[in-house]
Parts: sequence; C-alpha cells; structure tokens
Amino acid sequence: MEKHGPETYGELNADVYDEWHAIDPAEAVRFLAELVKEGPAGPVLELAVGTGRVTIPLAAEGIDLHGVDASEAMVARLRAKPGGERIPVTIGDMADVAPETDEQFAMVFVVFSTFFFLMTQDEQVRCFENVAKRLVPGGRFVLECPMPDVARYDRNQRVEAHDVGLGHVRLTAVRHDPVEQRFEGHHMLITNDGMRLAPAFMRYAWPSELDLMARLAGLASVGRWGGWRGEAFRGEGNYVTVYEKPATPAS
Ligand SMILES: C[S@@+](CC[C@H](N)C(=O)[O-])C[C@H]1O[C@@H](n2cnc3c(N)ncnc32)[C@H](O)[C@@H]1O
Repeated sequence: MEKHGPETYGELNADVYDEWHAIDPAEAVRFLAELVKEGPAGPVLELAVGTGRVTIPLAAEGIDLHGVDASEAMVARLRAKPGGERIPVTIGDMADVAPETDEQFAMVFVVFSTFFFLMTQDEQVRCFENVAKRLVPGGRFVLECPMPDVARYDRNQRVEAHDVGLGHVRLTAVRHDPVEQRFEGHHMLITNDGMRLAPAFMRYAWPSELDLMARLAGLASVGRWGGWRGEAFRGEGNYVTVYEKPATPAS
C-alpha cells in the first residue's frame, strides 16, 4: 500500500492497535456520558470509532451509539468484542460524517488525536461543516486533540524509544512539515525476527484554528479543558473542546 488514504492507518495498524494504544477510556466515558445526559435527546456518533475503545463502554451506559470508520480491519476488531456487534458502524470517511445514514445526532465526538488524521485543512473544515449539519439544535461536537509540540523536533525530525527490552525495541520516527502542519511517521517494533512498521500520518491544527473551523460551521464554543476530568487547559498535552449547535441559528 504506497498511496495514503483514509483507510491506510486502520488497515496497517488494526492487529497491533489495542496492544500498542491500551489507553484506559474510563475518564473519557464518564465525561461524555455526563454531557449526553445534560444535552438534547438523540443518538451519539463517534467519528473514527476504530476498535471501539471508547464507544463500547459508552454504549454500556445505555447510550445509543453509532460509529463511522474508514477501516474494515479496525471495525472487524470492534465487532468481535462483547457489545461491539450491537453498534451500527458505517464504513466511510469521517469528513463526510456518516454518509449512509441521514440520522441527526445529539452529540458527535472524536477522541485521541484522530481528528488530525484528516490530512488537509479542507478536509478538517468539511468535517466540521458536516458535523454541524448532522447535529440536532443544542447538540454538541466534542474533540480530544493533542496540543502540537513542535519544539520536540530537531530540524523537523525526531526518533523516540518507547519500549526497550532484551529481545525488542519499539520506536517512533517522525518528520514534521511546519508549512502543511503535518507529522508523517512510523511506529516500529524491532525484534530478532525482524521489523514491524505501523504508520501514523496526521495534519495538526492549533486550538485557535479549531475554533475558527467551528465558527465557519456555525458552532458556538462551550469550553476547553486540559483533560477529561475538567482540568484547566495550560496549552500542552491532550485537551478536550466542546462546541454546540445553537438552538436558533445565528442571523
Ligand atoms: C488512533 S485510531 C482511534 C480509534 C478510536 N477512536 C480510539 O480512540 O481508540 C484512528 C482511527 O481513525 C480511523 N480513520 C483514520 N482516518 C479516517 C478517516 N478519514 N475517516 C474515518 N476513519 C478514519 C482509523 O481507521 C482508526 O480506526
């Protein structure tokens, strides 16, 4: 697979995703479940639902969850998990939101760094516009994004060792394009038997750029926090932003 498309990440990472990214979803689930309870009625959609790390436990709270993802391989893993088979998932590009349904959602969310998997500013703007169209009045769009940390890069590249053992090393090697705001890199597992590559390409945006995309889509800002526990945002690490579709469109 030489050409990068919406399905590339999932197709090349599905078999190692849950093991390499075993991040506890409990705090995200608590935050999202509270937000759903205080918002309008209706189903909830996760963009880029993947293997269901967040959506499966959120559905277990009694919330009507739907998903969209570009990768059949990731979704097959979700469907194989207890509770995963009950989640309706559309295979498609999250920039189009959920093209095979015309459902309106009380909340749409995208977690981890996944919104940045939309590789151009145009695709990110299109995603905001499509989310806004598919939210009920008063519905929320929730994004968890990493604050870009470009100071980590020396001459726009970085190699980092995540895990080192007697028989293996797990590394990331990333190049940074500051003009297109892209990181293009690989996770690598090297063992005596060989090497396993898992690519992750993303186009990052600054918080102010997300706010502008929201404004262009007619969404109002509700708040921004430094994490799922509602911590103050200090301009670093993963942060959570909530936008809302006004009950009455701005004139
Ligand atoms: C880092 S995983 C996140 C999965 C899950 N949301 C989680 O938090 O564990 C990224 C997911 O985004 C999906 N993806 C990447 N680009 C996409 C796109 N343009 N449209 C839909 N899904 C996409 C991949 O297939 C993969 O499942």
